[in-house]
Amino acid sequence: IGTTVYENSAIASKSVAREIADLIKKKQAQKQPCILGLATGSSPKGLYAELVRLHKEEGVSFNNVITFNLDEYYPMQADSINSYVRFMNEQLFNYIDILPENCHVPDGTLTKERISDYCSQYEAKIEALGGIDLQILGIGGNGHIGFNESGSLQNSKTRLVALDHITRVAASGDFSGLSNTPRTAITLGVKKIMEVKRVILMAWGEGKSNIIKASVEGTVTNLVPASFLQEHNNATFVLDQGAASKLT
Ligand code: F6R
Repeated sequence: IGTTVYENSAIASKSVAREIADLIKKKQAQKQPCILGLATGSSPKGLYAELVRLHKEEGVSFNNVITFNLDEYYPMQADSINSYVRFMNEQLFNYIDILPENCHVPDGTLTKERISDYCSQYEAKIEALGGIDLQILGIGGNGHIGFNESGSLQNSKTRLVALDHITRVAASGDFSGLSNTPRTAITLGVKKIMEVKRVILMAWGEGKSNIIKASVEGTVTNLVPASFLQEHNNATFVLDQGAASKLT
C-alpha cells in the first residue's frame, strides 16, 4: 500500500485527475475503453471538478470511458435529491462528453426480489469489459469502502447491505434526519474492489486520521474493510496533511 500526502485536498485532487486523464489518453491511443470505478460523497468532488476543467480547458475527451459507481442507497429514485445518479450527473457526467449509456450506477428502484440477479449482472458487465482499470474510493469513519461496512468479508459480492448506524448518522444531514435516512444500500462487493488494476483512496481532514492510520498501519481485518487494501498490489491512499497526521 502506498500513501501520498499533499499539502491540501485541492492539489491532491488535481494530481489524481492528471493520473486519470493520462490513463484515458493511453487507452485512447490503444483504441481501448477506459473502465473507471467511481465513488460519491464529499471526498471526490474536487477530483470531478478538475476532470470537468480538463475536459473544457484541455480538451480531454471521455468518449472511450465507461464508469461503474460503487453504490446507491436502496430504495432510491434516480431523480431524488440524494440519489447517487443525480450526484454523478451534477458533479461530473453532465459536463463531459461521456456517453450516457456508458455510465453505470446501481439501480435503487428495483423490487427486492430482483436485486440479487441485478448485482450478479452488474459484476458480469464489469468482467465482460476486462475489469476496472482504476477505482476511486473514499473511506467511511468506520473504514467502509463503498458501502462494505465493518464486518464485510474480503470475498463479499455485490449485494444489498444494511448501513451501519454511524454511516446513517453521517448521511442524516442530507436526508433531514435519521428517520428519513435509508437503512440499506446496494454496494459493489469487496472482491470486485480487490480485483481492480489500480486503486486510489482519497481522504481529507483530521477527522479521517484515526481510520486512515488503522487502515494503513493496523492489522488487516474485516472490522476495517479499507485495511484489505494492504493486500492489493497497486493501491495508493492520497491524503491531505490532516488525514495523514496520525501516520507514523
Ligand atoms: C460513496 C462511498 C462511501 C464514501 C465514504 C466517504 O460512494 O462509497 O464509501 O466514499 O462514506 O464519504 P465522504 O467522502 O463524504 O467522507
